[in-house]
Amino acid sequence: MRRTRIEVDVIGQTPNRLKTRKPRPFDLGGSARWLEAHMRAAIRRGPLTRREQGLADRLMKLKREAGSHSPSAPTILKTIPELRMRVDACFLSNPYATELFLDHLYREVIRPGRLRRVLEFYPSQNRVIAGKLADALGLPVERLFIGNGAIEIIQAILHRFTGDKILVNLPTFSPYHEFVRPDTQVVYNLLRKEDEFHFDVGEYLRTVHREKPDTVVLINPNNPDGGYIPHAKLTAMLEELRDVPNVLVDESFIHFACEGEGFAYRTLTRDMERFPNLMVVKSMSKDFGVAGIRAGYAVMAPERVKALLGNGYLWNSSGLAEYFFDLYSRPGFLADYERKRIHYVRHSRRFFKALSHLPGVHAYPTHANFALLELRRDDMTAEDLVCRLLVRRGIYTRACDDKKGLEPGRFVRVASRTRSENRYILRGLKEVLR
Ligand SMILES: Cc1ncc(COP(=O)(O)O)c(C=O)c1O
Repeated sequence: MRRTRIEVDVIGQTPNRLKTRKPRPFDLGGSARWLEAHMRAAIRRGPLTRREQGLADRLMKLKREAGSHSPSAPTILKTIPELRMRVDACFLSNPYATELFLDHLYREVIRPGRLRRVLEFYPSQNRVIAGKLADALGLPVERLFIGNGAIEIIQAILHRFTGDKILVNLPTFSPYHEFVRPDTQVVYNLLRKEDEFHFDVGEYLRTVHREKPDTVVLINPNNPDGGYIPHAKLTAMLEELRDVPNVLVDESFIHFACEGEGFAYRTLTRDMERFPNLMVVKSMSKDFGVAGIRAGYAVMAPERVKALLGNGYLWNSSGLAEYFFDLYSRPGFLADYERKRIHYVRHSRRFFKALSHLPGVHAYPTHANFALLELRRDDMTAEDLVCRLLVRRGIYTRACDDKKGLEPGRFVRVASRTRSENRYILRGLKEVLR
């Protein structure tokens, strides 16, 4: 039987077996089998030892210092070098797409010696990059705003267009309530765990009519629970939101939310003409697995793009982000990406199903590339689970204690990774939960 070669990212370290091999340009590390064999000796059950507890305490301190966002894997490894992180299931990206980007980068930029050019010279201006993306997306360039990651665009929108009241669902991606102007009031629409974080359109519209916000934010699929509003339902609701000046829909995880046949996904960027108040924000970090290059875009009315550009953003993409957008505009790259996307979505679904059978936890239904787990036992907190997974198994997951709208101590978010990493995460979870 032919075995598929599936890589496991051994973050920040090279296993001895690989050190002896001729290095490949971007070695993603050993197989899950190697990882399992290597880790088995190190696995202990029961309470943490003093040494392990010491590592867990340092980890928690780091997490507290990072505020409402998790410390990145490189930050953790730099601060706690004794920790052996094997799998980053905290940050939310498609690892197969990262590999695709790296392959191109190596072949087209690094090997032919073009990296210097990318680093030494200014990248193209915002409008030039928008032009490249416009062709690829089939959208008018006047409607496109390029950002140094979606987060820059979110901040720009909140500061330029949001007035005195914004409505945000809870739980949510926290910048939507953290980074508003001091004079903007944030009101919340609570998604309840008792309803599996289901989005109730009727209730939402009643809140909008009562509160009269000038901006509403919808993340679809939502982070951190993965809940999804189907396209038809969403466009019907947008009809009801015509009087709201700013409707911001964040589609950063839309490539993982399939509707209908053949793993197709439906984006609102095709509906811009119908809804002048609509702004669609899209990160490239998740589906393309390139958070480090900081690339994102937004689609909105041309006068809004003009207004944002009036505040600057001339060279806000890096040379690497521009290279990424160049790739994005090539049909061959997109066809390869589609294969990676479908493969990832397919096996992520199996992973989420397996998570739903874990004892003592509830896995909420998800249409994204992560799942929100609720601990339904009293002998372990979310922090305990996260620390044990990381200290004993090298698996980094996210405790959601800092997320508004989620009961502290109960919720952990786990990202889907490669197929073998997911197997490894499942085994780790089973062991820690035993
Ligand atoms: C819903 C959502 N939007 C935007 C972002 C930020 O994306 P970027 O890395 O492009 O800044 C995140 C990151 O987690 C997110 O969850």
